[in-house]
Amino acid sequence: MTVASAPGKAILLGEHAVVYGRPAIAVPICDRRAFASATSARRGSGVVLQAVDLGRRYPGDGNCVDDDGRLLQAALRGVLYELGVSGEGLDLEITIRSEIPIARGMGSGAAVSAALMRAVAQHLGAELGAERLSRLVFQTERLLHGTPSGIDNTTVAYEQPIWFVTGQRPEPIRIETGLTLLIGDTSVPARTHEAVDMVRARWQAARGAMEAQFDAIADIVTRARAALATGNLPELGHLMNQNQAILADIGVSSGALNRLIVAAREAGALGAKLSGGGMGGCMIALVRESDRAAVQQALQQAGAAEVITSDVSRGILVMGEHAEQGDEHAR
Ligand code: MEV
Repeated sequence: MTVASAPGKAILLGEHAVVYGRPAIAVPICDRRAFASATSARRGSGVVLQAVDLGRRYPGDGNCVDDDGRLLQAALRGVLYELGVSGEGLDLEITIRSEIPIARGMGSGAAVSAALMRAVAQHLGAELGAERLSRLVFQTERLLHGTPSGIDNTTVAYEQPIWFVTGQRPEPIRIETGLTLLIGDTSVPARTHEAVDMVRARWQAARGAMEAQFDAIADIVTRARAALATGNLPELGHLMNQNQAILADIGVSSGALNRLIVAAREAGALGAKLSGGGMGGCMIALVRESDRAAVQQALQQAGAAEVITSDVSRGILVMGEHAEQGDEHAR
């Protein structure tokens, strides 16, 4: 049996504007992961995809009508095609489970695809490097979500804090101090597709004004990178708040998100904002270690269904090496 995993993600700053070519910063949420295992099955049984959390089993081939089944089938098809392996005559039991809240802007779909692809590749004796895996996951994201920027698949596949601009090689971000993030779940599903479509409609109706908003976000994200590099957390928090103000202005925040954001700030968070597509989903708060408990409690009292703590550690991996080694292996 082969077992593989991939982390969730949070966008620190820059969502939505990233779809229009501006930079964004995202971090992996390493202690919330999707897991997949691949085991050889009885001869002639074909490929079965077992989604443990959903209590469902899907055939490996075909076109499922429900989104979860379609995602798993697309991921399987993608990895087999990439490795030049036919699904015909393959007998495999693939089991998937995830600790990442579904439809909360935390990259659950990308993580599930990545874990599944890794497990299947390993089972077939190949290893997918980060760059290759990110490209494959992007294809499944595109199939299901229309016009993703590519930030989710990239963060999940590279598993490190990144500076992301569509079409450019992702850059690992230098983080001088550890970051403590609290992620508050509104329990309202994030309507990312709808939010992205709504922003596009606004952009089509008022291009100049929206471009100016995206430029303002790009400026905030650029200053945040400098704040991360010098460990200036109060400045980072301030920039997160500024980013939230623009996101609210372009219409992707919500009452539930605003309630959690205000509660976190009042309890001492350095900054708080929605994270991901918005219109539901999760918010993130940057906190000092000494304020963690108070902010967590305030989020719970303000109605957060769950509060996830994530410590984004200082430093970076050497991305190039990490990515290329795996790709080399798979050739
Ligand atoms: C989704 O996690 C973030 C958005 O910027 C969409 C995207 O980048 O594809 C809203």
